[in-house]
Amino acid sequence: MAANAAAQTAAPAKPDPMQRRVAACASCHGVHGEGLPGDVKIPRLAGKPAGYLLQQLEAFQNGQRHHAPMEYVVRQLSPEYLRQIADWFAAQQAPYEKQPVPAQTAEAMQRGEQLVKHGDPSRGIPSCESCHGSTLTGVEPMMPGLAGLSYAYIDAQLDAWRTHQRSTDGPGCMVVVANRMTVGDVTAVAAWLASQPPPANLHPLPASAQKEPLPGWCVIGKSEVQR
Ligand code: HEC
Ligand code: HEC
Repeated sequence: MAANAAAQTAAPAKPDPMQRRVAACASCHGVHGEGLPGDVKIPRLAGKPAGYLLQQLEAFQNGQRHHAPMEYVVRQLSPEYLRQIADWFAAQQAPYEKQPVPAQTAEAMQRGEQLVKHGDPSRGIPSCESCHGSTLTGVEPMMPGLAGLSYAYIDAQLDAWRTHQRSTDGPGCMVVVANRMTVGDVTAVAAWLASQPPPANLHPLPASAQKEPLPGWCVIGKSEVQR
């Protein structure tokens, strides 16, 4: 009896099926979705809101967001599988790694901080904080954080909305925001955001943290993904 019990304890643990599924993502996004320090255009996935991650996976699948390798990896995956992957990455904890930020003038950094905290009413730009959360870590279930993203990634995404390489269902909050910004604003805001050490807890704020209603032109995703 005792020998049997010992043999059972020593038996190798069952491989986690999710580990195998996300192995296809690890070469770019890291084993726990921590990102790839060597490639600043690859985003971290760990701890992002599950509803947001699912919406983005669907966007690569249905052609609303363009990036050839991403479109390829999600092409064959079922909706249920995408949901499980989104939940898995949302639950991961991974440390933040600082990425390089190109040098900016003091004026540009001030402009970046101004846009993040107060927006620019003269151009109809609400503050980034009003949607992305006062901690800039995002808001459950659909609003991604900006804290901890690299300069190159933020810059590339704002550019993608301005050139219609990235969109969503509905009017598309960021299409509006990015097109109200100047090219200089994009650089300034990306540099200021990427220069801030993020809070230790990068997980999104609870849905109750969204106190102000979103502007009428900002309708997020489909009800199906808004769990
Ligand atoms: C060849 C490299 C590569 C592989 C493999 C890869 N990704 Fe990506 N992924 C990227 C890049 C680059 C982006 C940013 C694309 C862009 O600029 O829009 C991205 C973006 C994403 C995003 C959007 C993140 C955000 O914050 O908006 C999600 C979600 C994602 N990938 C999930 C996955 C999953 C799940 C897998 C595995 C099934 C995977 N990726 C495999 C390179 C890769
Ligand atoms: C009116 C609400 C709103 C405001 C204001 C806003 N955002 Fe967003 N942002 C969103 C939403 C919603 C998303 C999810 C995008 C999607 O649906 O494709 C998003 C996504 C993003 C992303 C992509 C994150 C990722 O992981 O890929 C970046 C970068 C971003 N916003 C930057 C900014 C910056 C910089 C500002 C301030 C100048 C800003 N946003 C202001 C609503 C907003």
